[in-house]
Amino acid sequence: MSEANQSTPKLSVEGIEVSYDESLILRGVDMEIPTDAVVSLLGRNGVGKTTTLKAIMAVERIGAGSIQMDGQPLDQMSTEKRARGGIGYVPQGRDIFPNLSVWENLKVSLSVTGKEGWERLDEVYELFPVLKEMRNRKGGVLSGGQQQQLAIGRALLTKPSLLLLDEPTEGIQPSIIDQIEDAIQYLKKTHSMSILLVEQYLDFAKSVSDYFYIMERGAIVEKGAIAELSDELISKYLSV
Ligand SMILES: Nc1ncnc2c1ncn2[C@@H]1O[C@H](COP(=O)(O)OP(=O)(O)O)[C@@H](O)[C@H]1O
Ligand SMILES: [Mg+2]
Repeated sequence: MSEANQSTPKLSVEGIEVSYDESLILRGVDMEIPTDAVVSLLGRNGVGKTTTLKAIMAVERIGAGSIQMDGQPLDQMSTEKRARGGIGYVPQGRDIFPNLSVWENLKVSLSVTGKEGWERLDEVYELFPVLKEMRNRKGGVLSGGQQQQLAIGRALLTKPSLLLLDEPTEGIQPSIIDQIEDAIQYLKKTHSMSILLVEQYLDFAKSVSDYFYIMERGAIVEKGAIAELSDELISKYLSV
């Protein structure tokens, strides 16, 4: 058995292709997420960021390339197996169950991890106190920001070693963005967890990330340490 070590990336994406119907959307995406690092995946609308996360989660099938976690190919592993294997996924648009209570939404995750997830429940309530306060309310009556917190909290209960966040700040009020930022900073400090963050809000991405990748038309065109994300790159690839 090959042991993962510091030099083995948490996640390695090599040359992946994804097509919708006949058209090729991801044209060979290469990316590495180091262990315990936060990596931002940046790019304008429609370049393939969400599709990349879906491929990592096996929500979309890859037509070529490979994805490895801790040096092991994920290959034919189903979405459910990847979730149980330590990948937490918070999709764009935060699809919580609107007709289940906040608590019931969280319980869905607890059923995946059992006892270990329960140990993390207090922590999730501490990060996002509103989830405790509103635990008996239906998910659908929460504000957009509160639903995002619920979606992130739910993912954390599965004790992921890799967390995929798709535009967590989209359409959310600043006070809740601050809480989500604090939560990411806390997770970085306290847990062994790698995070792949898709984000359009650059100040947020810069403040939480260690590295960045920029996508254009289904491929990575730039990457580096977050401090190297220059105004030049921003105006070339990210400004609207
Ligand atoms: N289910 C789908 N069927 C067909 N085309 C899709 C589907 N999902 C996304 N696309 C197209 O694939 C491209 C990449 O989409 P997406 O990965 O959502 O981009 P991003 O997240 O960077 O905005 C876009 O042109 C989008 O219209
Ligand atoms: Mg998207």
